[in-house]
Amino acid sequence: MLNTPRKILVTSALPYANGSIHLGHLLEHIQTDIWSRFQRMRGHQCYSVCADDAHGTPVMLKAQELGITPEQMVEQTRAEHHQDLQSFFVEYDNYHVTHSDENKALCEDIYHRLNNAGYISKRTISQLYDPEKEMFLPDRFVQGTCPNCGAEDQNGDSCDVCSATYDPTEMKNPRSVVSGATPVLKDSEHFFFDLPKFEKMLEQWLVSGALQEEIANKLKEWFEQGLQQWDISRDAPYFGFEIPDAPGKFFYVWVDAPVGYMASFKNFCDKNDVDFDAYWNADSDAELYHFIGKDITYFHCLFWPAILEGAGLRKPTAVNVHGFVTVNGAKMSKSKGTFIKGRTYLEHLNPEYLRYYYASKLNDGVTDIDLNFEDFAQKVNSDLVGKVVNIASRCAGFISKRFDATLSDTVLDQALLNEFQEASEGIAESFEKRQYNRAIRDIMALADKANQFIDAQAPWVTIKEEGKLQLTHDVCSLGINLFRILMVYLKPVLPKLAEQAELFLNDQLDWDSAKRHLSGHQINKFKALMQRVDMDKVNAMIEDSKENLQATPKLDPSSPVAKDPIADTIEFDDFAKIDLRIAKIAKAEHVEKADKLLRLELDLGGETRQVFAGIKSAYQPEDLEGKLTVMVANLAPRKMRFGLSEGMVLAAGPGGEDLWILEPHKGAQPGMKVK
Ligand code: 2FM
Ligand code: ZN
Repeated sequence: MLNTPRKILVTSALPYANGSIHLGHLLEHIQTDIWSRFQRMRGHQCYSVCADDAHGTPVMLKAQELGITPEQMVEQTRAEHHQDLQSFFVEYDNYHVTHSDENKALCEDIYHRLNNAGYISKRTISQLYDPEKEMFLPDRFVQGTCPNCGAEDQNGDSCDVCSATYDPTEMKNPRSVVSGATPVLKDSEHFFFDLPKFEKMLEQWLVSGALQEEIANKLKEWFEQGLQQWDISRDAPYFGFEIPDAPGKFFYVWVDAPVGYMASFKNFCDKNDVDFDAYWNADSDAELYHFIGKDITYFHCLFWPAILEGAGLRKPTAVNVHGFVTVNGAKMSKSKGTFIKGRTYLEHLNPEYLRYYYASKLNDGVTDIDLNFEDFAQKVNSDLVGKVVNIASRCAGFISKRFDATLSDTVLDQALLNEFQEASEGIAESFEKRQYNRAIRDIMALADKANQFIDAQAPWVTIKEEGKLQLTHDVCSLGINLFRILMVYLKPVLPKLAEQAELFLNDQLDWDSAKRHLSGHQINKFKALMQRVDMDKVNAMIEDSKENLQATPKLDPSSPVAKDPIADTIEFDDFAKIDLRIAKIAKAEHVEKADKLLRLELDLGGETRQVFAGIKSAYQPEDLEGKLTVMVANLAPRKMRFGLSEGMVLAAGPGGEDLWILEPHKGAQPGMKVK
């Protein structure tokens, strides 16, 4: 049992501020949240922080494309991300942003410490530069022909066809993804962090228990290849923090991002009177855990501990690395509708289904986790609805109606109760070690036993039998108590369900509650705690995720922001075939279950057309009614999931809120031809 409470600080990787939270992010945030909730239930002092990762070239270019400042974009995205995470019951003590005063101050302080200790040097390097946009190009913003196999349109650092990796300067016919211009080589002075100086320290750290075996082995490979000086600066224009005494030079985003963990915690400490230094000083007795995906191991397991050590601060107790999410056995795909945003999921499904499913698959390894929707539905329906909730629903009615809503004083089967209570430490150990799949397996084995007990006792039969009233009371009371213990164990995974159960049980659950037994205790009315997963809703979510893609192809967060290329030319005759008309928006309304579409009724001066337009992100229906727009009137009708769409309205803009239906001049009349 609990001895001294531990002081723990937990982080999840900071999501980039230029894309939405999707089911891939959610694996990590849910994994972290389960772990922190578990620690708090055990009585430990556990803080968890996160933030939006605001800086870098992609964020800067995306904001430019949207015609807003990066600060505006980052603030909007931060709020949206935080909201999305909370909707999945992921609760951080603080959700900050790396573009913050605290982060700037901490980055500057750490930089000074590193510089004073002799870990920073300067050197001139030559890099590809976009002469039109007047900026240096990160590798992913250069495309060209692979120098190894000749495949065209490959990225600046590696080839998808032959898997070769190379320097972007080696590419044939390189071009800037930002402007299309041919990059030129240009010199610039850069700042470097002396990573090789930390090799010994890192070698010791990696065997200190801070890393999973697979990750420690990966690190050993990197040591064998030899550690390199790390380039920590970027030239203007760059959205980031300027390096002290170096005008026009900025910290590379991967310097200030992990410092952002500290900054988010600093922001929290200042508001809540918590001792920040006690968590970060070299002699701190607090524990520090970072949860990350395997793709950012290098940053967290080499650079970050070295920077902390170099700056005289403590190193992480452990970096907990997880694998990627695949959906239905394949990489998440926008065209298949399996690249699912958190928000789209929430429009269709209960967030706790996902929390449970991920928990049932997560372990302490780095293998990928497959979200298979058939399996997802089957598992949630059979485990949560069919086993756990079923225990309560089979017993609650009798207690309420026949026994004055009060549990009996007798424990009918002490051995069974003992078994449930004694499982506590084993399940706790599984949570502690992040072997959530094992915890869930053990909890479900107990749920099976509770159901077998109720099946064997059949209270629905004994209630009608003479002289069996006390027995029925005892059976149902034990059933409710067993359900209660299961809910204690599931509470880190299913906080909302646990909250509803607490209401029903008229009791507060922490980890030690499992050791107590409710006797002579009054309970509240039982309400259905969870619905079954409906596959139609899963399919509708996948459909909607396809629709997202069609509506906003240029806002794809994972692709470099490119200018929309002008399409291939068409002949005049083709153009002449398009019948553009002025249309009056007679009616506009939301479409149920569609997160992008509005249904418009368009008056063409004598004829009314129904059109589904992907403009919901930009307009309220009531603001459109009565307005004029331009439509393609002779587009063949298309059958959509929501009905027939008989034409298309013209809109301009990159998407999201910035999407404008063209409003023609006042003299225009419905039905008028547009030339
Ligand atoms: O890979 C990513 O999504 C990064 N934004 C993670 C940053 S984690 C930390 F270092 F801040
Ligand atoms: Zn190649």
